[in-house]
Amino acid sequence: MALPSVERRFITDAWRDAVRTFPVRNPSSGAVIAQVADCGPEEAAEAARIAWEAFESWRATTAFQRSELLMRWYDLILANLAELARTMTLEMGKPIREARGEVGYAAGFVKWYAEEAKRVHGATFPSHVGQKRPMALRQPVGPVFAVTPWNFPSAMVTRKAAPALAAGCTFVLKPAEQAPLSSLHLAELWREAGGPEGTLQVLPARDPVPLSNALMADPRIRKVTFTGSTEVGRILYRKAADTVKKISLELGGHAPVLVFEDAELNLAVDEVIACKYRNAGQTCVCTNRIYVQAPIVEAFTEAYVAATQELTVGDPLDEETDIGPLVDEQGLRKVTEHLHDAVARGAMVVAGGGPREGLFFEPTVLTGVTPDMKLMHEETFGPVAPIISFDTEEEAVRKANDTPYGLAAYLYTNDLARAFRVSEALDYGIVGVNDGVPSAPYAPFGGVKQSGLGREGGAWGIEEYLEVKYISFQLPR
Ligand code: SIN
Repeated sequence: MALPSVERRFITDAWRDAVRTFPVRNPSSGAVIAQVADCGPEEAAEAARIAWEAFESWRATTAFQRSELLMRWYDLILANLAELARTMTLEMGKPIREARGEVGYAAGFVKWYAEEAKRVHGATFPSHVGQKRPMALRQPVGPVFAVTPWNFPSAMVTRKAAPALAAGCTFVLKPAEQAPLSSLHLAELWREAGGPEGTLQVLPARDPVPLSNALMADPRIRKVTFTGSTEVGRILYRKAADTVKKISLELGGHAPVLVFEDAELNLAVDEVIACKYRNAGQTCVCTNRIYVQAPIVEAFTEAYVAATQELTVGDPLDEETDIGPLVDEQGLRKVTEHLHDAVARGAMVVAGGGPREGLFFEPTVLTGVTPDMKLMHEETFGPVAPIISFDTEEEAVRKANDTPYGLAAYLYTNDLARAFRVSEALDYGIVGVNDGVPSAPYAPFGGVKQSGLGREGGAWGIEEYLEVKYISFQLPR
């Protein structure tokens, strides 16, 4: 199937023509690649009405029917994998090999929740009264409002939409303004799979605030799910209070990696490289701080610098490219500012060195890094890797935990007892032991502290879209 054009259109109960549009730019070339619908409060109010009405019939379908639809969606995503990957690369610059990997990852959530839909079990439990037979059902929470980020334009959509739809919720999505095309294509495939009208709506917006405010204030929206910055997450959390919506938040991180002297050096280097430069350093779980135990810091730095210098920066559509452009000027400014701040405070550049033309940024390695530098307490979201040495395990854990964030942390060791001890001591939602890319559709993803609330993925992800109903059933006398 050729994907239909999604230009100037958005989807509610049907495809609609936009009143206003905004351009989507290819960050690699700067060229405008599409004009996309610019939705505001009027479209949001209509979307809430449609989601509310569609919820009545969608919740009444059986889990088996929803599962079949999700499996058809999964098949169509895989059948269109190449086209979806290309769209993603064009709209946000992810290297094409990685983009194909992301579409597979996105499809994985759809398959997982097609299966999970049938496992939304309830419970019966004993009562203190002989005539009573109490039970608990799990039912869909209601229409959902989702806000997804530009760094995973497909996988963050399906990681939220698939469990919501599997649970029987309807779903209204505002995709990131930088990368709305993938989600429009995914919605079209959902319709092609037989997804009923109004179950999955996509409303792009140039300025997310008026549209989001309307949906946040609407009492028909019962659940909000957001992936993005901690700053915006806080605003949504406050707004959700007015109509007491259920909320899940996947927010910023500041991931540390601890490389112990007993680690397998080559494995540690390969995994830290994969983690640090994934999507040009633009993921919430990318390593931000690389702590290496003093006896191996020189050997690690030498091998890490050599591996960094092997990476190919360039056109993200090129199969050879490892690192594409950053997403926009704002992203480039932040990474550049972190680098300049570190250098001004005494850091040494041992590989790379900064921005290239356009939005490209060389993978850069720093040593001589101190705790006062911005990149040591703010998320850089770019390909800059600071290496810091430590002496003891206790010191490494203390430094790793010394942040308000708690999304992902990593450690490298061959000592089993240390692996358990340190994993348990790290104040993070995700810990990778000798593993730089632990994310998977079947695993719980989410943070502690100011990195968020709730979990996505696996058996945990569907819980976010369910309410428990207690039925106290008394046998007639
Ligand atoms: C993210 O950066 O928000 C998602 C990364 C992942 O799923 O691994």
